[in-house]
Amino acid sequence: MIKKELIEEINKLKSEKNAIILGHCYQNPEIDEVADYVGDSLGLSKLASQTDADIIVFAGVYFMAETAKILSPNKKVLLPNKKSGCNMADMIDIKLVKEFKAKYPDLPLVCYVNSSAEVKAECDICCTSANAIEVVRSLGVKKVLFAPDCYLGSWVQKNLPDVEIISYTGYCPTHLRISPDDIKSAKEKYPNAVVLVHPECRPEVANLGDFIGSTTQIFNYVEKTDYKQYIICTEKGVVDRLKLQHKDREFVLVNDRIVCHNMKYNTLFDVLDVLKNENNEVFVDKDVAKRALNSINRMISIKSSKVTV
Ligand code: 13P
Ligand code: SF4
Repeated sequence: MIKKELIEEINKLKSEKNAIILGHCYQNPEIDEVADYVGDSLGLSKLASQTDADIIVFAGVYFMAETAKILSPNKKVLLPNKKSGCNMADMIDIKLVKEFKAKYPDLPLVCYVNSSAEVKAECDICCTSANAIEVVRSLGVKKVLFAPDCYLGSWVQKNLPDVEIISYTGYCPTHLRISPDDIKSAKEKYPNAVVLVHPECRPEVANLGDFIGSTTQIFNYVEKTDYKQYIICTEKGVVDRLKLQHKDREFVLVNDRIVCHNMKYNTLFDVLDVLKNENNEVFVDKDVAKRALNSINRMISIKSSKVTV
């Protein structure tokens, strides 16, 4: 089937079945041609909680589809390709999160949404990379536990020096592939470029950034500025989309290994397949979902985390 037919078939099934397609901006850009919304984890969570569709096809990784199911328990949530996991989310499970909490029994736990439903159920509040600082600040405490991403934890720590952040040891292997030397070499080639960095990067990388933000915040930064060249320190999908959106500017991926293969598993064929057969449905245990929902809703209700989508 050629791409045009594939897209037509997907759109036909989408309206017949009252389905919505949500996509993370690290996905293959071909997904955007059928998606109702493409954005970062925070925007996608909000959309999943607001939609009146009967079916949500979540072109992202497993924890995102799971979050959508928790927010919309009566809807059918489908993950186009079952292989789309997240290495960071897999670094902590229910046993490890309980052990982490047990070491510091009185401290609240903030949990990055890049984690399983079971882990979310154990925390006090969730955060995304777009609102982690506001979430921690909202607790009004002097000490807090943060899991699983130690680098996002470091970035929050830098921004909130009066709060002690005790981070778990997880990280994103994709963002870990960015080194300070990569930025220095890119800067030698493009001395006038501004450097935009995702907070999942290591602190020594983040320290070299002119701007640090989630994927949507990076898109917004580019929209609001008019530099000629940008060095992008996050997943390749962001660069692919920026190039399509701003043809008059230059976007340089800091090195060509910044690709999250988990995100790239989902293809248009997979989207069509799940829409047709309604397979790869995501389920979450009712009790786990209820507790995880509290943590996610607490995050969504924080004023400054509101996004316009
Ligand atoms: P954001 O969508 O919060 O920018 O996070 C990036 C990411 O790694 C998603 O897995
Ligand atoms: Fe997980 Fe990193 Fe891929 Fe995001 S980019 S889905 S954190 S492995």
